[in-house]
Amino acid sequence: MDAKKYKGLATTAIRTGHHRTPENEHSDPIFLTSSYVFENAETAAAVFAGDTPGNIYSRFTNPTVQSFEKRLAAMEGGERCVATASGMSAILSVCMGCLKSGDHIVVSQSIFGTTTVLFNQHLTKFGIETTTVELTDIESWQSAIRDNTRLLFLETPSNPLTELVDIKQLAELAHDNDCLLVIDNCFCTPILQRPLELGADIVVHSVTKYIDGQGRCMGGAIIGSEEIVGKDVYGFLRTGGPTMSAFNAWVFIKGLETLSVRIRAQCESAMKIAQWLEQHEQVNHVYYPGLTSHPQHELATQQQTGYGAIVAFEVGNSKQDAWDFINRIDMISITANLGDVKTTLTHPASTTHGKIAPELRVKAGIQENLLRLSIGLEDVEDLITDLSCAFNVD
Ligand SMILES: Cc1ncc(COP(=O)(O)O)c(C=O)c1O
Repeated sequence: MDAKKYKGLATTAIRTGHHRTPENEHSDPIFLTSSYVFENAETAAAVFAGDTPGNIYSRFTNPTVQSFEKRLAAMEGGERCVATASGMSAILSVCMGCLKSGDHIVVSQSIFGTTTVLFNQHLTKFGIETTTVELTDIESWQSAIRDNTRLLFLETPSNPLTELVDIKQLAELAHDNDCLLVIDNCFCTPILQRPLELGADIVVHSVTKYIDGQGRCMGGAIIGSEEIVGKDVYGFLRTGGPTMSAFNAWVFIKGLETLSVRIRAQCESAMKIAQWLEQHEQVNHVYYPGLTSHPQHELATQQQTGYGAIVAFEVGNSKQDAWDFINRIDMISITANLGDVKTTLTHPASTTHGKIAPELRVKAGIQENLLRLSIGLEDVEDLITDLSCAFNVD
């Protein structure tokens, strides 16, 4: 197949990266093997030395994982992808590959709770300092940068409040200061947003989310240049070993094949639910980039090709109001995962963002009465029926 002839993302997600074996299989094969055999001692030495190409050991070379990596790299428009065991190990691998003791990083305050804990508690033990800034305020990014700042990290849209930042603007700022711009593209996937095209240096994913899409396997990915991802990050993975399993890579290859249709349908339902919630008298605020009331609606329209399927909203005035709402839900799953075809409901302040210091949580705008919906593929009318029954009827 002449891949250069075909430009569409859905085609890329279905057709890229599969090198058919002599068995002529149509679906990608799974290479469940830890190691590979060599014809003789000389070949083994040459492959180990990198003089001859070949598989060595599945911590760092596995054909199924490589098929997944090639496909996702092509979709994100990057030279190289490195797959990892989880989204968190993808973020850790970027840090281990690109940072050293004495470096400083600037991080958005609006990110997944565990990522905050990684930066604020674990990396500090190794002499890497973090400054947290407000995602949408470019000036605060600018003033946080120091001589030893090496990397800027953010999610756009952010988890759970769906705040956005102008990637092009931040990429310019990062490069003027010799920093890498790293973007967690979990909420959009390459179907809705391609940060590398907008100037970002590295994209990370929790593949566990939309790319799997059916809540089965844990995985992560890092996409960027051959120089940074192919050398520095891959170098860490090869030695540190936070490797994606071949079985999971196969599941994710299958997930990529349906990603485009899933995410578009999920976006459509999310828009309907956000509009329905916005007019509900018991809802105080809805956070969804597709709503014209969202402060960065215009930026979302210009930077993304869809608004995503995460809708956050505030109900009542307290944690108890939010918990009562959750406890009246009948069908929607009460779980912390997102990106699944099953709609999920989460109370961020006591779950995904529960380990962040309360003052930081409040600063990031995550109130006790905030709920996060990840809209799946059920009939939207049935989702509205379930949500309607969860509102207080007194
Ligand atoms: C935006 C975002 N990034 C990273 C992660 C971490 O991914 P994983 O759970 O696959 O380690 C999550 C998990 O919820 C997430 O929501």
